[in-house]
Amino acid sequence: MLDIRNATRLFGSKAAVDAVSFRVEGPAFVGIIGRSGAGKSTLLRMMNGLTPATSGQILVEGRDVAVLTGAAAREWQSHCAMIFQQFNLVPRMDVVSNVLHGILNRRSTLQTVLNLWPRADILRALAILDRLGIAEQAPKRAEALSGGQQQRVAIARALMQDPRIILADEPIASLDPMNAQIVMDTLKRINVEDGRMVIANLHTLDTARRYCDRVIGMRDGRVVFDGLPGQLTTGVARDIYGADADFNESATSTAIPTDTSADAEYAARMLA
Ligand SMILES: Nc1ncnc2c1ncn2[C@@H]1O[C@H](COP(=O)(O)OP(=O)(O)OP(=O)(O)O)[C@@H](O)[C@H]1O
Ligand SMILES: [Mg+2]
Repeated sequence: MLDIRNATRLFGSKAAVDAVSFRVEGPAFVGIIGRSGAGKSTLLRMMNGLTPATSGQILVEGRDVAVLTGAAAREWQSHCAMIFQQFNLVPRMDVVSNVLHGILNRRSTLQTVLNLWPRADILRALAILDRLGIAEQAPKRAEALSGGQQQRVAIARALMQDPRIILADEPIASLDPMNAQIVMDTLKRINVEDGRMVIANLHTLDTARRYCDRVIGMRDGRVVFDGLPGQLTTGVARDIYGADADFNESATSTAIPTDTSADAEYAARMLA
């Protein structure tokens, strides 16, 4: 379904992504790991059509999405949702409108200006929020929510697009461990229940091991590891991240301390 062939992106003379190739068949949960500057975000942006490839191909069901521009790029982006570390919600807008913005590009300018949404779309947005355990937040402004709740709104906005692929760029990097787990469980559920492919840049090894069917390690723009989470030993990880003396796996942990946050009940339900 996804076939990346020698995808390369240069910034000046420097290759941020350097001849990356891999194939993903079916609705896998793929994690991409690597140190800062390895090219993880650039690769996701290339898949999404935000950053055109300098050379190579990114084939989705046979169509090259690496070279799309303008309306064609926007059309592809409507099938390929992206989730960001900083949520990228409209802070002062209510939650349900933020979710509806997932399908903004399918509406006329007039509808948008008048903020007119078909009833069916509003009901679908509410149903998605309900599925993600945050229906009661629907009328609130996005900025009034916790980080974990905001990221679930961003996931709801992505689902509103009914995407084939969900790309997540460090989706839990700004969250505390409890909320990080809720967000990762939510992405996993969407992957398993809906059969949507999820590709997530992750900065913690234990998260990659726990949630991914497959892990891709990048270093200096290149793929240096492509395997199962079980093959991701500390030695392999040291290779991916660079054998610095300060490499310390425990520093990348998102293990959850026992606590009783407002989201604990939801987490328990998700984990049951
Ligand atoms: N728009 C740009 N212009 C110039 N250089 C860029 C641009 N975007 C990325 N780069 C460079 O490309 C390389 C890869 O950056 P990228 O953001 O993809 O890394 P990353 O793995 O996502 O890092 P991080 O973990 O810090 O998010 C870096 O050297 C970065 O400085
Ligand atoms: Mg990045």
